[in-house]
Order: sequence, then C-alpha cells, then structure tokens
Amino acid sequence: MRILVTGGVGFIGSHTCVELLESGYEVTVIDNLDNSSPKALERIEQITGKRPDFVKGDIRDRACLDQIFESQKIEAVIHFAGLKSVAESVRKPIEYYSNNITGTLTLVDSMRDHGVKNIIFSSSATVYGDPAFVPITEECPKGICTNPYGWTKWMLEQVLTDLHTSDPEWNVILLRYFNPIGAHPTGLIGEDPKGIPNNLMPYITQVAIGKLEKLNVFGDDYDTPDGTGVRDYIHVVDLAKGHVHAIRKLADKEGVSVYNLGTGHGYSVLQVVEAFGKACGKPVPYEIKPRRPGDVSTNYCDPSKAERELGWTAQYGIDEMCRDSWNWQSNNPDGYRD
Ligand code: NAD
Ligand code: UFG
Repeated sequence: MRILVTGGVGFIGSHTCVELLESGYEVTVIDNLDNSSPKALERIEQITGKRPDFVKGDIRDRACLDQIFESQKIEAVIHFAGLKSVAESVRKPIEYYSNNITGTLTLVDSMRDHGVKNIIFSSSATVYGDPAFVPITEECPKGICTNPYGWTKWMLEQVLTDLHTSDPEWNVILLRYFNPIGAHPTGLIGEDPKGIPNNLMPYITQVAIGKLEKLNVFGDDYDTPDGTGVRDYIHVVDLAKGHVHAIRKLADKEGVSVYNLGTGHGYSVLQVVEAFGKACGKPVPYEIKPRRPGDVSTNYCDPSKAERELGWTAQYGIDEMCRDSWNWQSNNPDGYRD
C-alpha cells in the first residue's frame, strides 16, 4: 500500500516516514523544503534501509499533485505540509492562510479528481483554544484560537468534515497533536528549526549546547503547581507510530474521526527543565519572564479514545523525550547543516 506524505521531510513527517517504511508501507513524499533539509531523506534511508520516493514540490501546485496521482497508485494521504509557527502567523496571516488553506484545498481537489479519498490530517490541540476542561477529550468543544495558524487548523478540520458530508466515500482522520518533542533514538533525525526557536524543547537544547545563554520561562504565576505552563509533551516517535495506527483504521471507513494524540500527562516548564538537566548532565540556566501572549495555562489530553479505537498509546515518558532531544542536538549541533 502506497501512502503520499505531504511535508514528509519535516520534523514529524520524517519520523512518520520511518515508521511507515518499517511497517512495510511504500511512501511517496512531496515537500517544498521550505522548512526542512533533503538530508533528512538520506537519514531516513540510513535508519530504514529504504528511501521514500521524493518529489520536490509545493502542494499549491496542482499540476505537480496531478502528476503524482497519475503516475503512482496512492491509496491514502497523510497531510503534514504547512506552516506552523504561531508567532510568525500573527505577522504573516496571508502567507499562513494561503499555504495552509489553499494548499489543502488544492490537495483534496486533486485527490478527489483521482479517486483518492482517504486522508489523515495533522491538526493540533490549538483548536481547543483555552480548553473548556482538562484532561481534554475529543468531546471538548473547539475554542477560540488566538492566532492565524490555529485558525487554519480549526477551519481545515471543518473543510475536511464538509468534504465527507458532500461525499461519504471520503474517510477523514483528524489527529490533534499535543506537544511533540524528542527525536529518533538513533539521533539521525530530529527537529531543526531555522533561527531562534519559538518552542520550549528546541530552545532548551540550544541553551544546553551553548548557542543560547539561558531559557526565558514565560510566566510563573499560572494556576499550576509551580506557576509555569503545563503541556502534554509527546515523543515524536510515539506520535509517528500513531499515524501508522490511523492508516490501519482507515480500512474501517468510519467517515470523519477525531483523535487526541498525547500521553495524558501534563508537565510544567520547570519540570521539563529539570528532566532535561538530568538528561544532559548539567542544569539548564533560566530566567522567569512575563507571560507570553496567547499562551494557555494548562493543556493535556485524555488519550483513551485513541487507545480504544486505534489500539495506540504513547510508550515513552518525559525522561526518554529529553534523552532523545539531547542525543539529536548533541550529535547534530547545527541540525542538518554542515
Ligand atoms: P515542519 O515544518 O518540520 O514540517 C512541515 C513540512 O512541510 C516541512 O518540511 C515544509 O518544508 C513542508 N511544507 C510547508 N509548506 C509546504 C507546501 N506548501 N508544499 C509542500 N511542502 C510544504 O513541521 P512539523 O512540526 O513536522 O509539523 C507537521 C504538521 O503537524 C504541520 O501541519 C503542523 O502544523 C502540525 N503540528 C505540529 C505541531 C508541533 O508542535 N510540531 C503541533 C501540532 C500540529
Ligand atoms: N515556553 C517558555 N519559554 C520558551 C518557549 C516556551 O517558557 O522559550 C513555555 C510556554 O509558555 C508554554 C510551554 O513552554 O507554557 C510550551 O510552549 P511551546 O511553544 O513549546 O508550545 P505551545 O504549547 O505553545 O504550542 C505547541 C505548538 C503549536 C501547537 C500546540 C499544541 O507550537 O503549534 O503546541 O498544543 F498548536
């Protein structure tokens, strides 16, 4: 069975390619390399002994997509491609709506015309806004997003749901990721942000390696045990495996399904700092700063629906997430750059 993975060279996509190839699937990747390096493809091959078919292209390029669907027997699409920086989306809403919304519309239009009606979509816990309750179940109502990036996920979930309503042959699985961190245990693939990282773990790893002086902890006055924000960090390999389970689930043809992919455990910023300090053998310097606008206090999920219906649960804990993030960063201080 051949799967088209959009954005398959990126952080979560590259780990998912590894898990798909190791589970016997054939993989075609389309990626414009806007936020990734082709070296990740070599590394995927190093890990699995197999190289995915790679098309350097943009999902807004209809002719490029048509060419893929016409030349290969694609049975399902895992759709990662998109822009993902919350802060950048506030500065560049047109770029975010264009890439994420137009890109997805072009993709599903081409899929429809080629009779490929199975899609797994990378959504995000961000669609819950400031969650109505925690732990967050899939029944928790979608909330108000605080930035254009979040709205693209919110809207695209609706677009894909409407697509199924219009044509019940569509099978749509919406995966709402919590906070993916970690890296492949080989240390060969991992997260490689351009510029100064926005997210907690890549910032911490760059402090630990000496590229950044200290971590800014955004707020210590939240209503949490130590006052810092609480999130549901999930090892990227666990997240990647969740996609293999979702691919199998498509065979049940259940229309539109939504799953939270998280561990169900919340860790505060300071707990992550401490766990990382143990993993790298030295304390991570930090300073308390004001809250970051748009941040919620506590965000963790109830992942039991994914366990019940997909047969998937996260295996790794926070110590392994920190160990593998550090292993990746220390083996590749400049990421995929030489
Ligand atoms: P990433 O930036 O590492 O990967 C995205 C990939 O898509 C990149 O390789 C990029 O070059 C490619 N891409 C972007 N626009 C494209 C286009 N128009 N055409 C072709 N390729 C394009 O990001 P990631 O962390 O791997 O995230 C993957 C998906 O998961 C994204 O949709 C993201 O919004 C979603 N997500 C990520 C997180 C997270 O914290 N990392 C959390 C929730 C959801
Ligand atoms: N944080 C810091 N200092 C930093 C970076 C982050 O203290 O330098 C804190 C934040 O305030 C927050 C926690 O660390 O409390 C996690 O922040 P991240 O930026 O790593 O992650 P977010 O929860 O803000 O958002 C991430 C992705 C979104 C996705 C969301 C899903 O960036 O794309 O998880 O829950 F939608």
